[in-house]
Amino acid sequence: MSAIDELHETTAALRDAGCVAAEEEAAELVEHAGGDSARLSELIARRCSGEPLAWLTGSVQFCGETVVVHPGVYVPRWQSEPMALEAAARLPERGLAVDLCTGSGAIAVVLSSRRPLARVLACDIAPLAVDCARANGLEAFCGDMDVALSEVPAGSVDVVTAVVPYVPTEALRLLPRDVLTFEPLQALDGGEGGTALLERAAKHAARLLRPGGSLLLELGGDQGELLRPTLVGEGFVGLELLVDDDGDVRALSARLSGVGTVAASR
Ligand SMILES: C[S@@+](CC[C@H](N)C(=O)[O-])C[C@H]1O[C@@H](n2cnc3c(N)ncnc32)[C@H](O)[C@@H]1O
Repeated sequence: MSAIDELHETTAALRDAGCVAAEEEAAELVEHAGGDSARLSELIARRCSGEPLAWLTGSVQFCGETVVVHPGVYVPRWQSEPMALEAAARLPERGLAVDLCTGSGAIAVVLSSRRPLARVLACDIAPLAVDCARANGLEAFCGDMDVALSEVPAGSVDVVTAVVPYVPTEALRLLPRDVLTFEPLQALDGGEGGTALLERAAKHAARLLRPGGSLLLELGGDQGELLRPTLVGEGFVGLELLVDDDGDVRALSARLSGVGTVAASR
């Protein structure tokens, strides 16, 4: 079969299976199969079953960076890109950043590429994710966000980022079937209301950040408002919601107050 026929057939199969970007995805699968038709058939079947494209091709583009994504690891979303870029803009050239709940490490990759002289530390509770983040060249630690980076001195970090699991348990059933079938629940389920890990990340960030350092948290809906008392109580100021072109809240940024300094007493 010619390369053009291969592309047409793959596009048709993906379209029939309901893929919205069938043509672009077909081009990626055909390229990844490298002319091996049996391999291509297998990739098409897996994609048509809903398996994430990034798990099949092994990577995804995020803020223009190629991020390795191993099977079983949460696939970075384009919705997280503005937050990653904002975090990079706030990171001093030779600063220190921490990416909690790093998954594949997409956000940390952006921080490292935009600030090559900075130090970027990452952590995740899932060993698969930590392996993947390391495959992306990151200094990644395995464990719960409260303990994995316990050796980082309090008050030493310039920027903390986190895309924690924040989907309220009661809203999980509204996620696309493919996401629920394939992606790890541990990466999605934020518990009742979805704010438990957001609260923990905010408290942990307050310990890690230097006065004036920035916290960037991905969240949605009214979670920014729900989180406000905790953030204010932990000494954050300058709370801003990052909103997308449709007016949907995508993230929150805040700075740790310079007053009364550091977390040494926490
Ligand atoms: C929504 S994914 C985000 C991954 C990545 N930051 C991204 O944007 O692609 C959430 C990640 O948090 C990790 N995670 C869940 N609970 C955690 C915890 N208590 N401590 C550290 N990581 C956790 C999951 O394993 C998952 O990789």
